[in-house]
Order: sequence, then C-alpha cells, then structure tokens
Amino acid sequence: MKTVKVGSVGLGRLGYEHAKNLATQVPGCELAAICDVDANRVKEVAAELGVPNTYTDFEEMCKNPELDAIVIVSPSFLHCQQIEIAMNHGKHVFCEKPLGTDVAQCKAAEKVIEAHPDLIFQLGFMRRFDKSYAEAKRKIDNGDIGKVVLVRSYTQDPRSTIESTLKFAPHSGGQYLDMCVHDIDLIRWFTGSDVKNVWAIGGVFEFDLYKELNDADNAAATIQMENGAMGFMFTNRTHAAGSNVETEIIGTHGTLRIANVGAKNLLNIVDEHGSREEYYPDFMSRWHEAFVAEMVAFTGHVRDNTKPADLTVYDGTAVSEAAYRCKESFETGKMLPIR
Ligand code: NAI
Repeated sequence: MKTVKVGSVGLGRLGYEHAKNLATQVPGCELAAICDVDANRVKEVAAELGVPNTYTDFEEMCKNPELDAIVIVSPSFLHCQQIEIAMNHGKHVFCEKPLGTDVAQCKAAEKVIEAHPDLIFQLGFMRRFDKSYAEAKRKIDNGDIGKVVLVRSYTQDPRSTIESTLKFAPHSGGQYLDMCVHDIDLIRWFTGSDVKNVWAIGGVFEFDLYKELNDADNAAATIQMENGAMGFMFTNRTHAAGSNVETEIIGTHGTLRIANVGAKNLLNIVDEHGSREEYYPDFMSRWHEAFVAEMVAFTGHVRDNTKPADLTVYDGTAVSEAAYRCKESFETGKMLPIR
C-alpha cells in the first residue's frame, strides 16, 4: 500500500484528535508535518506523535514537496484561504466544517477547487461516516421508509466543556454555522433535496457572551426543502449528561431513529441516583470512530485517485448558505428563502 504523507494545520481541540488519528489509526498514512501558530503546541505534539516536520507558517508547510495532502483543522474563518494556498501548492485537501463563514468565501473556494480538477477535496461532515447514520442512509436509499417527510435533529454539547466552548465562540461563526451545519448536512443528505426556506429562533438563556456575539446559547430552526420535506433542528451547549446527538427520520412507510447513541457502552449503573447509563462525555469520544473513518476514506481517495461521490464543495456551500440564512432569520425574526 502506498504511504500517503499528510500535513495537518491546527492543533486545537479537534486538530489534535485528527493529528493523533492520522499518526496512529489510519493504515498507510504518515503524519509527516504539523503546523500551528502556537510554537510550543507544535513542539509538544511533534514530540508525542513523532512528526518529523514542524511549522508555524501554513504556506511554508504547503511548500514541502514530500506532502501529498493537507488536513485543515484551523479556525473556520481561515478554511477557504488555506484551501486555496494548499491547492496552489498541488496538495489534496481535507477541510473541517464549516467550509467558510460566509457564502462569498464558499463560492471562492468552489472556483479554486474547480481550477484543480486533478486534486481531491473532502469536507469534514463526519456524521456521514458513523455506522448508524450510514445505515440509515442505506435504508432510505433502498426505499425502506418510503418518501422522507421530516428529519428532526438535535445537537447538544455537554455543560462540562462549556469553558472551552466559550473560548471558541468568537471565531466559531455562531451556533448555526458551527453546530447546525451538521444537522443541515444530514437533512439535505437524508431528504435528497436542497433547502428552500428557513425560520430560526432562539435566545440567550444563560451565557451573556452570546448576546455580545449577537448569537444564541439555545437555538432552533425549522426548514422547508425544495421537495417539500421538512426539517427541524435544535442546538445548545449545556446538555447535562454529556454529548447528545439524536436524529429521527419520518418517512411515508416508516421511521428511523438514531437516538440515545449517547450511551457510551452497555454498562448499567444502579446507585443512589437510580438506574442509568453513562453518556459519551464529549463530541470527541462520541464521534471518534467516525473521525477515523473519514480520514481512512480521505487518504484512500488520495491513494486511489478517486473523488468522494456525494460529499463535495457544493454540499459545503449549500450547507453554509442555509446556516447563514438561519443566522439572518434568527437576527431578523423572519422566515427567509435561501435565494
Ligand atoms: P481550536 O480553537 O481549539 O483550535 C484552533 C487551532 O488553530 C489553535 O491551536 C490555534 O492556535 C490554531 N491556529 C489559529 N490560527 C492559525 C493559523 N493562522 N495557522 C495555523 N494554526 C492556527 O478550534 P477547534 O475546536 O479545534 O476547531 C477547529 C476547526 O474544526 C473549526 O473549523 C471547527 O468548526 C472544526 N470542528 C469540527 C468539529 C466536527 O464535529 N467536525 C468539531 C470541532 C471543531
């Protein structure tokens, strides 16, 4: 198997997870370079994972001729400009969600990717690589639940990680771009349709920082798809029991629920609080296998020179566009068409 050499940028919450997975869990992949503006962090991670090339400047890393591909896990507002730099240096790119923090950035990224048809691009919608979500998609495509009528999706981060969430909030793009993009991606994927109208509501129930950011700490949105299907999503950062993501897909001939996957294992604890199962403590542990699977898929595409069939830059733009419209709808209180 040809070794795919990867350079990864951003060594924060998720960047470290991807770096560790690339270095230790992805067969046929070598994490050959890492980059972060925090020189100490680069040194620390390089020593832990045995990474030979280290950088604090992204473009310098992209100039390294040894690298086949770049993994972008930097703050969201940098994604599109880093895609351009990496592709201009001939590198295949995996980029974390969201594609960009405004629609103009996403459109510019489309042009860059179209200008490099020989390079592979994959976006970080890892839920598609989770076994339960992938199985739901197979059943829908097989017609098992008839026509999809409604998708309901909740994304709740745990209260226990609120401190790092608040630090990340100013450069996150807001709840709709940061959290709901996953739900919007799932709703588009499961309904096989594009978003037509959005109506978003929410408020600041606890953390005043979100008022300063013109954002909500609890946010919801109802969306209507081009084919008439409906979507509902809810997000917050203060789920008491751990990371909670649940999705229900109602079809004309059946319902699929990917709920309660918060349960970390089959352990049942009976104590003074009653009978209970422990949740995954954070998104990292909930999605660990999916994070590995998406990197196995990406490095596989690079090795085999194939492209992800239904996870393109256009999905990234469509999702960001809908998320951005949700933000505008939340700010104005109006139901808005996508175009
Ligand atoms: P973070 O704030 O923890 O880490 C960002 C890192 O990037 C920091 O180490 C920072 O020093 C570094 N950085 C900043 N500017 C840089 C530059 N110019 N060049 C190189 N490094 C730079 O952020 P986190 O949570 O790791 O998120 C990173 C990205 O991953 C975001 O776009 C976020 O939306 C995405 N993400 C995706 C998730 C998913 O479920 N797929 C979950 C969490 C994050």
